[in-house]
Amino acid sequence: MELMKLITVTVSLFISVTVITADYVRPQPRKTLHFQLNPKPSFYPQQVHISLAGDESMRVTWVTDDDSSPSVVEYGTLPGRYSSVAQGESTSYNYLFYSSGKIHHTVIGPLEHDTVYFYRCGGQGPEFQLKTPPAQFPVTFAVVGDLGQTGWTKSTLNHIDQCKYDVHLLPGDLSYADYMQHRWDTFGELVQPLASAKPWMVTEGNHEQENIPLLKDGFESYNARWKMPFEESGSSSNLYYSFEVAGVHIIMLGSYTDYDEQSDQFSWLKADLSKVDRTKTPWLLVLFHVPWYNSNKAHKGEGDGMMAAMESLLYAASVDMVLAGHVHAYERSKRVNNGRPDPCGAVHITIGDGGNREGLAHGYINPQPEWSVFREASFGHGELKIVNSTHAFWSWHRNDDDEPVRSDQVWITSLVNSGCVSEKKNELRDILMAP
Ligand SMILES: *[C@@H]1O[C@H](CO)[C@@H](O)[C@H](O)[C@H]1NC(C)=O
Repeated sequence: MELMKLITVTVSLFISVTVITADYVRPQPRKTLHFQLNPKPSFYPQQVHISLAGDESMRVTWVTDDDSSPSVVEYGTLPGRYSSVAQGESTSYNYLFYSSGKIHHTVIGPLEHDTVYFYRCGGQGPEFQLKTPPAQFPVTFAVVGDLGQTGWTKSTLNHIDQCKYDVHLLPGDLSYADYMQHRWDTFGELVQPLASAKPWMVTEGNHEQENIPLLKDGFESYNARWKMPFEESGSSSNLYYSFEVAGVHIIMLGSYTDYDEQSDQFSWLKADLSKVDRTKTPWLLVLFHVPWYNSNKAHKGEGDGMMAAMESLLYAASVDMVLAGHVHAYERSKRVNNGRPDPCGAVHITIGDGGNREGLAHGYINPQPEWSVFREASFGHGELKIVNSTHAFWSWHRNDDDEPVRSDQVWITSLVNSGCVSEKKNELRDILMAP
């Protein structure tokens, strides 16, 4: 009892909040961007993006019109002088009348941490550069979901570009292609300047699901283009996986694949959690698309099924933060579990406000639930700076008249430091060992 009291006091002390109340007139949605058709030589690497592929490797993905273009990446730490070369794989797909280009995936490494590399795709064409994340704290994540490709998307991307970050986290809804396959290509071009330089780690949202009954599997385009390190993390599906950066273990779950206790995803999650070593990765984050804690009228209750299946497991595992998208607005919770504030629960953040064409979700349920700390329907992005094993600084930046304005910020202390992890050790072990 005394211990619980102590934990409560400590945690509430550390979650200090700055709230700037705003008499702020929210902007209208912006139009979908128009992309000039800009013919390139067929070998030319397009839509270049990178993602983490194990501790010391990076997967480089790009598209060429030319079917014979090789899936090689040359790279090194000096511009124009490539000391290493890696051979990868390629794929392509047809979707009704659309045929994709050749989609190349090449893993490069081992790479040094916190180092700039120069690289070239397919043996010719322009040089790109990337920076690998650090091996230790501090490490910074840019976070935004529901991006799309509108004027607001551009504004959000510009603001992210101004921030010093190591890895981009995207909890679902990338291109808003919605069956129009060429929009996957324009999205790839739009994000290339950022996504070719820092790893983009994504999970799927509803707008990635392009089902045609009996004809097309829901995530064919997404899986072909945005291959994530699922094999590297022991998962059998690109729709859920995990990875580690500095001292952070990050689990990307799938809201649009089976998640019940009998599902492959649930078994994989248990196996993944059993591998987490909080002395090595004191911070534990989870991302998925549909929020569990959402006091917006939009998509109310849609996450309930997944929450019923998985929340007790995440709670037993002392997950520090859960980041979701889907609702086109921003909301931050207290540490919460089972619908109530709880010092050993996760901080839930909804950040589906990247700038998609559907516009913002303005309607909120009143009164504001006890667990909800800050909520606002504006476009923007989040930054999570994990300073050390115990302290992280979270901030939300609103796209105010195209300027990034920091509108919500909070220090979060890890559950490792609070005693929750050690207190729930046996409970977690029992759940993980249950058949
Ligand atoms: C972690 O960072 C916080 C915030 O900067 C600082 O107050 C604290 O002393 C640091 N802890 C350690 C162990 O360095």
